[in-house]
Amino acid sequence: MRKKIAAGNWKMNLNAEQAQGLVSEVMGKFTSEINNQVEVIFGPSALFLHQIQHLAKDHAQFHVAAQNIHQAPKGAYTGDIAASMVASLGCSHVIIGHSERREYYGESNALLAQKLDIALENGLQPIYCLGERLDDREGDNTFAVVSSQLAEACFHLSAEQFGQLVIAYEPVWAIGTGKTASPEQAQEVHAYLRSLIADQYGAEIADNTSILYGGSVKPGNANELFACPDIDGGLVGGASLKSDDFCAIIAALG
Ligand code: PGA
Repeated sequence: MRKKIAAGNWKMNLNAEQAQGLVSEVMGKFTSEINNQVEVIFGPSALFLHQIQHLAKDHAQFHVAAQNIHQAPKGAYTGDIAASMVASLGCSHVIIGHSERREYYGESNALLAQKLDIALENGLQPIYCLGERLDDREGDNTFAVVSSQLAEACFHLSAEQFGQLVIAYEPVWAIGTGKTASPEQAQEVHAYLRSLIADQYGAEIADNTSILYGGSVKPGNANELFACPDIDGGLVGGASLKSDDFCAIIAALG
């Protein structure tokens, strides 16, 4: 069953007290009135996963995602976090392949394939991010780029494994810039991604895959983005740090 999802990617923002305050405010507003087809995911710093998971754990529609994991099961990787550690807290999701990790840490599709494997082995649901840079779009390479990001990292998975994934299309030129892809631009890529998934895994899996849009989602544009037939919600950065904005985005899921 395809879900509507609002996922907040807090990146390297908020301290412990602010993190707790934000989650309490959002949950306080939505616990009773949220549509049960909707999932809300908080993506705090790894330091606060335990604390935020503790707040969310008794509320079926609220989930917690790590922003990254290491590809190895364990070992001498100072400062890194294993999928099993995230899972041991009861967290359900992990963001994999965000463009900031691709760009600043050189994460390749091949490495991300390993991260998807270890996440799934540990029962975590990956939110796999992909998207073209501005030069890709201007050079008419958007479809080629997103297609290789999807195929090279994901298409070794079995249909059952792929069925666990959430996909997030985030054009790099729209992240944190205030420039949102138009609903038409986003819908076009979402429909293309769904067609690639259908070719690889069949129509049923494609139909059931939630594909989120990310890149300057705000209360003012969420409604028109989420109204597109292949956009199943948002991966939200800046606007997920303000409870009123994030609540308005959740409400826009319907
Ligand atoms: P933004 O970030 O909403 O601040 O553009 C989105 C993201 O990076 O996931």
